Amino acid sequence: MPGKTQPEVLVRTATPEDAPACGQICYDAFSAINAAHGFACDFPGPEVTTGLLATMFSSPDFYCVVAEHSGRIMGSNCLDERSAIRGLGPITIDPGAQNLGVGRKLMQAVIDRADRRGAPGIRLVQAAFHNRSLSLYASLGFDIREPLSCMQGRTRERSIPGCVVRPAKPDDADACNALSRQVHGFDRGVELAQAIEQGTARVVERGARVTGYTTHLALFGHSTAETNLDMQSLIASAESFAGPGILVPSRNHGLLRWCLTNGLRVVQPMTLMSVGLYSDPSGAWLPSVLF
Ligand SMILES: CC(C)(COP(=O)(O)OP(=O)(O)OC[C@H]1O[C@@H](n2cnc3c(N)ncnc32)[C@H](O)[C@@H]1OP(=O)(O)O)[C@@H](O)C(=O)NCCC(=O)NCCS
Repeated sequence: MPGKTQPEVLVRTATPEDAPACGQICYDAFSAINAAHGFACDFPGPEVTTGLLATMFSSPDFYCVVAEHSGRIMGSNCLDERSAIRGLGPITIDPGAQNLGVGRKLMQAVIDRADRRGAPGIRLVQAAFHNRSLSLYASLGFDIREPLSCMQGRTRERSIPGCVVRPAKPDDADACNALSRQVHGFDRGVELAQAIEQGTARVVERGARVTGYTTHLALFGHSTAETNLDMQSLIASAESFAGPGILVPSRNHGLLRWCLTNGLRVVQPMTLMSVGLYSDPSGAWLPSVLF
């Protein structure tokens, strides 16, 4: 692999056929950086990362790129284009080719794509212990927005008085999207509709009114609610959280303490970063690992 001054890295659109090589790199890259800091890998095995990337690489909702050197894949990156605000990741580079400028090229490729399409902003979630990714993203213009605590477990309280949680139906979409616009200033309607179809989405009602929703209580799901009580009822409705856990904004002191009092454990610290449009949310929210 050449040094970063040598420009032989080709960045091209990813195809489903790239998924096995990229999935292995993704697993190896996360395993290595997490192990170096004493954390478990975010994914159980390369078959999971390969499956995830195969889905993203073949979906029209994602713009995905790979970096190649002499015909060999060095890494990949994805941009979730399902909402006005884009979500970035996972970006991973072969551990043997890191710190050579490949990641910067793959970041720039998706930033350029978002600019070309007129996206008002891009967000991502970064492993807080990782100096290199923090430095790379910050130097590309991403600002730190929120410290997050990835949390796992099952709450002792199983419900919140006055709040009713039930599976979300297609009819709930308008209320959920309005809530998202109220809290964040934009909706994530495509993602929500997919989650309703997949059966992972839930809503909470108070006084027969939708006051919160989740696409999935999982690392790849997001949740939005009017108040912490609504969010707590969604969290309490889950037997466990898929993947490493849910992402709780650590500055939401009340929600974080409620999670701790209820027995949830902090798995790892993460950071929400953004470039472009960002307004502080006005409500309770859990980002997905994309944003
Ligand atoms: C994070 C990752 C994608 C970055 O890709 P990469 O090819 O290694 O990174 P690059 O070489 O393009 O850029 C790294 C930049 O950070 C800088 N950097 C690295 N460590 C640094 C430190 N401790 N302090 C300051 N800057 C640092 C480098 O100098 C370089 O900046 P430059 O381009 O201005 O010289 C890659 O290392 C990776 O796959 N890591 C493991 C998986 C992971 O964490 N993915 C990100 C999930 S959020």
